[in-house]
Amino acid sequence: MSVMLYEGKAKRIYETDEPGVLRVVYKDDATAFNGEKKEVLQGKGKLNNEISSRLFQQLKAHGVDSHFVSQVSELEQLVRSVDIIPLEVVVRNIACGSLVKRTGMERGTKLAAPIVEFYYKDDALGDPLVNRSHIQAMHLAEEAEVNQLQEKALRVNEVLVPYFAERGVDLVDFKLEFGRTAEGTILLADEISPDTCRFWDQASGESLDKDLFRFSSGNLQEGYAQLLERLT
Ligand code: C5P
Repeated sequence: MSVMLYEGKAKRIYETDEPGVLRVVYKDDATAFNGEKKEVLQGKGKLNNEISSRLFQQLKAHGVDSHFVSQVSELEQLVRSVDIIPLEVVVRNIACGSLVKRTGMERGTKLAAPIVEFYYKDDALGDPLVNRSHIQAMHLAEEAEVNQLQEKALRVNEVLVPYFAERGVDLVDFKLEFGRTAEGTILLADEISPDTCRFWDQASGESLDKDLFRFSSGNLQEGYAQLLERLT
């Protein structure tokens, strides 16, 4: 039995025998609105592991490194161990979600250029939006690191937007997390899945992401399975 290092809302992380390598196990738990809404959705973990693994591989093929090492089973990935930077980096191509609430922009408005936002990862505070001055004042990351986070997030967007568009899907927005390796290199980490992105079917406009669960607007597993089908 390996030692569990961390349990999050959607994943558990275990030690492995290999130094610097961890095992991530995707869970079926779904949470939204900072944990206020919770359910176990059979099959979600498997779908997210499959989708996230494919997206990390796709990024790798385009020169974007991440913590992803390999998919080892239906529910598990091996990843490189990193120190997670407590920032959520959100990239938006189409106005939706909190951007609409905060700015009054109309949902569905195509943005002339992607918007990059930073949120401080803190459940107790509800992950507040922070700017570069806050990040400096709070010592969350160096200025040069923030530049790297922004560049890397935009590069991920450049790779994934056309990848999904070719498959009839709009990548509306997504959240990334990054970590520092022992050598101090910044590496893309966590997951990229319908739990952390918004995907709209271009033909029907339907959500193929966690909004299905957030707003009880459809069957989450069916939406995620449809998305995975487009990638295979
Ligand atoms: O809620 P909001 O519109 O700010 O979310 C933007 C994007 O970031 C969405 O794709 C959402 O799924 C993702 N997100 C996330 N985890 C959070 C907040 C947002 O994955 N804690």
